[in-house]
Amino acid sequence: MLGSVFENAPVNEPERQYYFIDHSSALRAEKERKLGHAMTFHVTTFGCQMNARDSEKMTGILTQMGFCESDSETGADIVLFNTCTIRDNANQKFYGHLGSLNGKSTKNSERIVIVCGCMAQESECVKRLEESYGFVNIIFGTHNIYKLAELIYRYLYDGRNITDVWDKPGDIVEDIPSIRKYPFKSGVNIMFGCNNYCTYCIVPYVRGNERSRNADEILRECYHLASDGVKEVMLLGQNVNSYGNSLENDMNFPKLLKEVEKIDGIERIRFMTSHPKDLSDELIQVMKDSKKICRHIHLPLQSGSTRILTAMNRRYTKEQYTDLALKIRREIPQISITTDIIVGFPGETTRDVDDTIDVIKKVHFDGAFTFVYSPRQGTPAAEMEGRHDPEWIRREFDRVLTAVQDESKSMAGRFTGNIESVLVEEINEKDESYLSGRMSNNLMVHFPGEPSFIGKIINVRLLECRGFYYMGEIV
Ligand code: 5AD
Ligand code: SF4
Repeated sequence: MLGSVFENAPVNEPERQYYFIDHSSALRAEKERKLGHAMTFHVTTFGCQMNARDSEKMTGILTQMGFCESDSETGADIVLFNTCTIRDNANQKFYGHLGSLNGKSTKNSERIVIVCGCMAQESECVKRLEESYGFVNIIFGTHNIYKLAELIYRYLYDGRNITDVWDKPGDIVEDIPSIRKYPFKSGVNIMFGCNNYCTYCIVPYVRGNERSRNADEILRECYHLASDGVKEVMLLGQNVNSYGNSLENDMNFPKLLKEVEKIDGIERIRFMTSHPKDLSDELIQVMKDSKKICRHIHLPLQSGSTRILTAMNRRYTKEQYTDLALKIRREIPQISITTDIIVGFPGETTRDVDDTIDVIKKVHFDGAFTFVYSPRQGTPAAEMEGRHDPEWIRREFDRVLTAVQDESKSMAGRFTGNIESVLVEEINEKDESYLSGRMSNNLMVHFPGEPSFIGKIINVRLLECRGFYYMGEIV
């Protein structure tokens, strides 16, 4: 009887998934009778904001299926890992984590372990999971997360392990349930995938080619979020500046921002990530004119050497990047500019690193993530000559890190004494009588206050800068 559920399933999405959500209750109840308790789930997310948003969608699906969210990874009946593969240490960390999960004794032989996300798009990883981690029951990639309900239904139905990884993305599926981590802020996907093929980067291979969502759908989601109490949206894409390129109309990112700006209730707009090669004057003007777009831009530099940038296929020079960043600073003086830098790219010399440090000093980054180059199988850079020994990397990495820290420390202090508007996010982790909130420029401030302020935008005077955050008081 339950088998005919598959035969009668609608073909179109998302109707098909809502159908499996509805039909899963009988199978869930049967399993719960065996277990003697209501089934719980736990989602662990690795990596970027895209993964965080995907996890919110999967949490929404699991909740609609009637499973209860649990704080405990080891104790939950369904344990889901949303993985990242941007650098090899992300992969190693995950394998370690997964091994230790299995090591921790569980009385629950019925536990369902699910691995999805970027690692699952790599055939090597799938092979290793299947061969060495037999306790993983369901594996799927980045393109079919919306199918979670169907995959769980299938597993509950016949108990057979499932691997369902797609080489290519399918159509964008709208209206998937989602449960937000924060009631007052949310990520909103505006595009998926990436077409840039930076030579070190695995993202285009695991997330597929670039596809923009229709503006109408994005705006509909933003209206819905606003009516649900969301004050801050973060528009998400690997390269938001090329938003609209894959659409048939003349929509682009600055135009989309202007539309989001019109939505009552949305008080702050952020976006992530910008590729310098596509950042237009139109965008700078829209940011300048806006009352809602936050005074922060994340603008990955990767390297300050034109020679290395060319080898990385970044399609800008040292001078173009520096001019662009300084133009943004000139036009929007309060802005905070953060960046990503890679050290140890094949063939990089100390003189190339000098160029990177030169850009750091010229642009005065407010913050930077510095990464050691990690060869990713299948990317062009992994085949390039001129790998570095760990000693060279440690030395050059330290030079870059020191430059970055010197700049960001001196930049952070510049707001002391200001009154800034702050979105209050949570009770301070170290002292319960304090709250923690985020300023428009993305810096955190901690100040005494009542939990009832959480989710509100309030004015805070910045009293003291302590490196990368401030202490303040409500005014
Ligand atoms: N090695 C090191 N860092 C990398 N990044 C992307 N791919 C690699 C790699 N193979 C960094 C880039 C990117 C950030 C998200 O991760 O700096 O901007
Ligand atoms: Fe990777 Fe480059 Fe695409 Fe960013 S723009 S995701 S670094 S390929």
